[in-house]
This record gives sequence, structure tokens and C-alpha cells, in this order.
Amino acid sequence: MRSHYCGELNEKLEDQEVVLCGWVHRRRDHGGVIFLDVRDREGIAQVVFDPDTEESFAIAEGVRNEFVIRVKGRVRLRPEGTINEDMPTGKIEVLGKELEILNAANTPPIQLDEHEKVGEDVRLHYRYIDLRRPEMLERLRFRSKVSNTVRNFLDENGFLDIETPLLTKATPEGARDYLVPSRTHPNRFFALPQSPQLFKQILMASGMDRYYQIAKCFRDEDLRADRQPEFTQIDVETSFMDEEQIMEVMEALIVQVFKTHLNVDLGSFPRMSYAEAMRRYGSDKPDLRIDLELMDIAEQMKAVDFKVFSGPANDAGSRVVALRVPEGASLSRKVIDDYTKFVGIYGARGLAWIKVNDINAGIEGLQSPIIKFIGEDVVAGLMQDLQAETGDIIFFGADKANVVNEAMGALRLKVAQDLGQVKDIWAPLWVVDFPMFEQDSDGSLTSLHHPFTAPSCSAEELAASPATALSRAYDMVLNGTELGGGSVRINKPDMQQAVFKVLGIDEEEAREKFGFLLDALAYGCPPHGGIAFGLDRLIMLMTGASSIRDVIAFPKTQSAACPLTDAPGAVSSKQLRELNIRLREVEKS
Ligand code: AMO
Ligand code: AMP
Repeated sequence: MRSHYCGELNEKLEDQEVVLCGWVHRRRDHGGVIFLDVRDREGIAQVVFDPDTEESFAIAEGVRNEFVIRVKGRVRLRPEGTINEDMPTGKIEVLGKELEILNAANTPPIQLDEHEKVGEDVRLHYRYIDLRRPEMLERLRFRSKVSNTVRNFLDENGFLDIETPLLTKATPEGARDYLVPSRTHPNRFFALPQSPQLFKQILMASGMDRYYQIAKCFRDEDLRADRQPEFTQIDVETSFMDEEQIMEVMEALIVQVFKTHLNVDLGSFPRMSYAEAMRRYGSDKPDLRIDLELMDIAEQMKAVDFKVFSGPANDAGSRVVALRVPEGASLSRKVIDDYTKFVGIYGARGLAWIKVNDINAGIEGLQSPIIKFIGEDVVAGLMQDLQAETGDIIFFGADKANVVNEAMGALRLKVAQDLGQVKDIWAPLWVVDFPMFEQDSDGSLTSLHHPFTAPSCSAEELAASPATALSRAYDMVLNGTELGGGSVRINKPDMQQAVFKVLGIDEEEAREKFGFLLDALAYGCPPHGGIAFGLDRLIMLMTGASSIRDVIAFPKTQSAACPLTDAPGAVSSKQLRELNIRLREVEKS
């Protein structure tokens, strides 16, 4: 139907006849001349109708925003003074000869340039209009191109694209499952995969050697800006490669994606142990664009009278840390109170602070509600240890280690953002040497990654001291976001059983849930390992979007619903009967 995309038109086409198809972006009536900005995927072109072309002019008078039209006309240079430098096609216009309305449109509920004014629910309800915005279109185009680079890279490196089932058995990745009832097996359910983890391992047992898939994953968990119930992984598994080799290839993949699509050289990624990341940044996904670091000061606080500090300082499971923030002394009382509330979200019971108004004036130069509790000598020593300078504020956190890490780790990010101390760089790293397990509040152990991750010790050592065992897992972190995570896997049934045992899964349950995996490990399963990247997160970071919802064509809302289709929806009683399901009244909480 068309000869050119709108965005393709330029001066070289002067005097040529073109046919454009697209949407009416804007219509302006200029005293006897009608201008239509016609928009398609590739851009916008201005079409002019004058009254000489009587029939088309009459049609042009009737078109409205978002009508779909087809225009035939001649490209001409815009007269001097009407050139629009801001528009890629701003040097030319099309003198319209024929105009056909392919479809009329109701008045759009959102103007394309006014999306900020409407709620996200409205944008998602009318997603087809929202997606017409050039910004959204560009993000989806970008996503498509990145996927293509990923596929080409993996293909060139010998990875086979293999699909794994969506109707399957539960794969534990730490979230709730989405369940699908089976009609042919009454009272039994499929689970949608939280990841293709077990299938990709079984593909290694099958001798596929190198697998990848751009795979949909489903997790019923609390949603945030970087989490969706249904999301996409770049999922990879390899045989006969150790963690060093896997990290090397996967780093090369991400480096290539950034070079190709942003012309950014990420360089070689630094490595940091989990323990160091927690100690210095209170996080296992440290944002290295920010220089601020946590400093342990338990030694200095062991003997002070201030119980808030000395208590945790003398407790092995607790931490006392200081966060020195240059230029923070100017923060107002109100802002500090807000930060105190902010750390409260993570369970911190307070936020002590010292402002360094003049480091050369000794105690007189400091301002703080806690100096009187800690004692002047200790404070003076602390200022030296922290290398405090005039203009700093120093924040303190004292509590159970996990509370301090979460609260002070989050405060570090927030203060840096508020004070403009986040550097405009890309800061990737690998986090390694994760513990195998983390302890829940009831003392039980759960896998930090997933139960198929290999420990870096023997099965005997693991059984003897599970809480201190490290794993052969690695996470790729970029600018404080966990972009991907993977590990070398367990490839022997006895080791797998040993891990299940630590997790409190007895042999019977292990057989029932993972018998197929244990069998596969017993029939000649090679050493193997892999990784999965969050594609949505990767695109979010690369495009500067503030949420992964902005890089997914049809995302779900915060409450895991789809306003476009109104899913999840009710089903007929006939369908339920076929599935042998009877609904219960919803309990009001
Ligand atoms: P993991 O659970 O760490 O590992 O997931 C891998 C990556 O997927 C992304 N991701 C998400 N993105 C959007 N919404 C979500 N709800 C969501 N959950 C995870 C993250 C994360 O780093 N099978 C293992 C991988 C392996 O061991 O090979 C797995 O799924 O970017
Ligand atoms: P209080 O004696 O509770 O008034 O606390 C004195 C100062 O210490 C206040 O600035 C509190 O915000 C701060 N504070 C109290 N508990 C903690 C804690 N667990 N960690 C850090 N600071 C705290």
C-alpha cells in the first residue's frame, strides 16, 4: 500500500511521487491550507493539502487525530523559513494529491504527548495507543535488536536454541507457582515454570552441550519496578565448562550487547565476594557508581555506655556501622528525620548521626545527638578512623546484621541519589563466593540461589557445616541491579541428596518432586553450569526506563492484572466442572 515510510522521506526524493500510510498525528488548518502530520513506525512527515485538490481537501477537512490514512503526493522542499530542524523530515513536505481514509478513530482517551498526566492503569488499558508513542516504540525496537544480537552471539558460540515446556512441574526459584489445572487428570495441576532450570540441566544430561533460550518465566511474587509475574530470561546452560569459562563467555555477551547498541565499552568486570559486598555496601548487588561505603565500628563501640551501640557491638550476629557522606552536613533536620523514617521501613530502630561542621575545631566542631552518650574520646578516635572531613555527615546503624545491611545499604543509595553522588557511568561486576544457604527467622536453611547449585566443598563438609558452606554461584550486577545469576550445578545424585537433606527435604519428598532429575544425574550427567539474565532488566537499564513495565509490550500492573484484557477473568461453571473445580466464597480479610 505504501511506497515509503514517513520517516524515510528526505530532500533526495524531491519531486518524486510517494505513497504514505499511517496515523494522523496532528491536523492544522492554516487559512485555506490543511497540514496533516502523518505518523508511522519510522517517523512523521508533513503533508499539505490546498484547496486546488478539491476532493482530497474536503476529506482532509474531515480527518481527526489517530485516523488511519493513505496519502499519495509529491515531495517538495519546504520554503525557506518553514524548515523544521527538530524534525528528521523537517526539510521537506509532501504536497498531497490523493487522500483515503482507511479507518476513522474515536477521540483518543490519551493524547500521545500527554501520557504523563494519566495514570498507568489508563495507559495499560489503552496500551495500543500508549505503544504508538515514539518513545515506547523505540524501546520495543531496541529490545528486538538486542535479542537479535544475543541470539547471534550465542549461535556463533555454538549454543542451540531449544524450547522447554510451559506446562510442567514446579521448579523452585523461591516464588509461588502459577498453577494450571489439568482436565484429563482431575485434581492434578501443572505449574508454569519459574525458570527452565531443570529442563536445561536435563538437556546437558542429554548431550546438547550448549543450550540457550529466550524464555518466559512465571513467578507469583510481590511486584516492584524491576519485577513482573511473567518475565523473560536469556537462559543459558553449558557442559564441561567451569565457572571461570562460563563467566568469561557470558561477560563477552554482555560486553558485545553494550558495544553494539550503545557504543559503550564495559571493559573487564571486577569480581567481589558476597562477604565483601555485604560488608562494604550492605548489599549483594552493590551499586558501584556510588563511592560511599559502610565501615564497621563495632570494635570502637564495644565499651561505650550507649547500649544502642554497645549491645550490637558485642553480639556476633549484629553489626555497628558508620556511613560517611561528604557534603552531607548541609542536610536539614527535616531531611534527617525523613531518612530515619526511611531506614525504619527496613526495621532500623533509629538513625544516629554526627555532622562535621569544622573538623579542626575538635568536639566543638561536631553536631550530634549522640556524642554525649558515646563520650568525647571515642568520638575523636572515630573521626580519625573514618577520616572525617569538614562538611561530612556520618550516619550510624546498629542492629542485627541483616537489618543494618538492608537499612544502611538502602540509605547509601538514597542519600547518594539525593545529593547527586551517583556517577554517570556503567558499573558492572561479578559477585561470587555466595553462601550455599541463608537462615530463616525460624533457623531453617533455604538455598540462596536454588537447590541445584553446587557447593565449593565436599558433601561431608557440607553436612558438617551447612551454614558456612560457599557455593559455586555467580551473579552479574550492573549499576546496583542484579542482571543475571547462575552457577555450576550439582551433577551427582549423592551430592544432590545431601543438599536436599540440609534443606529438610527427605528422600521420599525428593523422589516425588525431583525423581526425574535424580535419575538423570544417575544416568551419566556431565559437569555442567549456566546462567540466566533478566532480559527485561537489561533493556530497562540500557534504555534508561524507570520500570521494566516500560520495556514490555503488555505488562501486568502492580497487583498482577492486565487492564487491557481484564485478566485474570472469571470462567464459566462448565469449564470449572470439566476441571473438577468448585469455587469457594472469597474470605474478606
Ligand atoms: P534467578 O532467579 O536469579 O535465576 O533469575 C535470573 C534473572 O532473572 C531476572 N528476574 C526477573 N526479572 C523480572 N521479573 C522477575 N520477577 C524476575 N525474577 C528474576 C533477574 C535475575 O537475575 N534458573 C536460575 C538461573 C540459573 O541458575 O541459571 C534463575 O532463574 O535479572
Ligand atoms: P535514643 O536514645 O533512642 O533517643 O537514640 C539516640 C539516637 O540514636 C537517635 O538519633 C536515634 O535515632 C539513634 N538510634 C537509636 N537506635 C539506633 C540504632 N539501632 N541504630 C542507629 N541509631 C540508632
